[in-house]
Amino acid sequence: LFAAPCAFFFGAQHVDQLPPPDRPEIAFAGRSNVGKSSLINALTGRTRLARSSSEPGRTKQLNFFDLGGRVTLVDMPGYGFAKAAKAVKEDWQQTMFAYLRGRPTLARVLLLLDARIELKASDREVMELLDRAAVVFQVVLTKCDAVKPGALAAKNREVSAEIGKHPAAYPVIVETSNETGLGVDILRASIARVIAE
Ligand code: GTP
Ligand code: MG
Repeated sequence: LFAAPCAFFFGAQHVDQLPPPDRPEIAFAGRSNVGKSSLINALTGRTRLARSSSEPGRTKQLNFFDLGGRVTLVDMPGYGFAKAAKAVKEDWQQTMFAYLRGRPTLARVLLLLDARIELKASDREVMELLDRAAVVFQVVLTKCDAVKPGALAAKNREVSAEIGKHPAAYPVIVETSNETGLGVDILRASIARVIAE
């Protein structure tokens, strides 16, 4: 699947302007700066397909990437502490939530959590929204290169306990790093399986 070319084809700022729902979609969600855009680049083997930045709030709309005509990868704006005006953030948030709740072709959400940061209320809110919408989400721990093994194990326990409370959670957590390539193949296989269903 990931040997196919991947290209940006649509950007949406509001849910009334989404592309036609004709293909399964995998959405990348998570707090600002968690590494959503970077992970799309790592998965597709491209360095600057999705624009990433050290500045939180880089991705400002829903960006749709076609992968080989078989699946669409959706890069979302972050929730949480984006460096943007409050009104703008609320606007993104509304668009994001409306998309997550109402998109008929949304096959799975990859919910990214920074391995260095504790779970926030905003993460739990998104999990609850996905529970209510019955959209399966898989937690991906990012930046695992930046934590020691003991801390990573503790993080896994924290997240396992949390997802145990969420009926929409897929029970396998994937640890990733774009620095070392950890978990990237596992995630590619996981996405390929969703598409094969
Ligand atoms: P927004 O679009 O602002 O919501 O952010 P994002 O979630 O798309 O994050 P982005 O991919 O732009 O990455 C944010 C920062 O994290 C960048 O400086 C990346 O270089 C860094 N980063 C991403 N993945 C990793 C990783 O695996 N390890 C480390 N150490 N840094 C990473
Ligand atoms: Mg981004």
